[in-house]
Amino acid sequence: MCPKVVKWSGLIVLAIVVAGFSTATAQRADNDVVGQRQHDMKAMAAAAKNIDAMFKGTLPYDAKAFKAAAETIRAYSGQRLMALFGAPVVAEGTKASASIEADRPTFDKLAAELGAYASALSIAADQNPVGLAPRMRMQGGDATMGGPLAKRKAAAPDPMKMPAEHAFHMMLQTCTSCHAKFRVKGE
Ligand code: HEC
Repeated sequence: MCPKVVKWSGLIVLAIVVAGFSTATAQRADNDVVGQRQHDMKAMAAAAKNIDAMFKGTLPYDAKAFKAAAETIRAYSGQRLMALFGAPVVAEGTKASASIEADRPTFDKLAAELGAYASALSIAADQNPVGLAPRMRMQGGDATMGGPLAKRKAAAPDPMKMPAEHAFHMMLQTCTSCHAKFRVKGE
């Protein structure tokens, strides 16, 4: 990868600010989208890390913070995620794979599923304002379904009907599935 690209990530914020004032070339417009894609992904990663820490008990459970993290992921999933990776998918600096254009239904399905799990987590926070209740925990029978590339059951399980912790694990599998299929492997 060329050093310009590596340097780019540090310039994202600046680029977003400057974009409004510049006579945007097509190339620059591409780069703004790439910056936004990577910004959204990083924000989701930070949010997921917080939720994970609350389940692990390394961060005290706080319903408001839990909900805020779930809402961050919800806001950056679904339609917004689909639109951000609309054509042209491939642009300078992006790790988005051209396979997104070839299999958009699967990409969009994963983006929508991400939103469904995030919504379930957000609602779980509303329902559990004072503490991480035992019913939020994964039960003995909840399998994690054999990894990101496991074949899905015909009827997808309803995120609202599973414990929050299970929904969280399924959500992380959605992240991993999409990256495995649609993100170019980094060096
Ligand atoms: C529907 C597909 C899809 C889903 C779901 C998805 N991602 Fe991504 N993610 C991508 C693609 C494509 C890229 C490459 C973006 C780029 O380089 O322009 C990416 C990149 C990233 C990056 C690297 C960002 C950077 O700075 O280059 C992180 C971190 C990340 N994703 C975290 C997550 C987390 C956490 C989740 C789940 C909560 C998630 N992603 C869900 C498709 C997805």
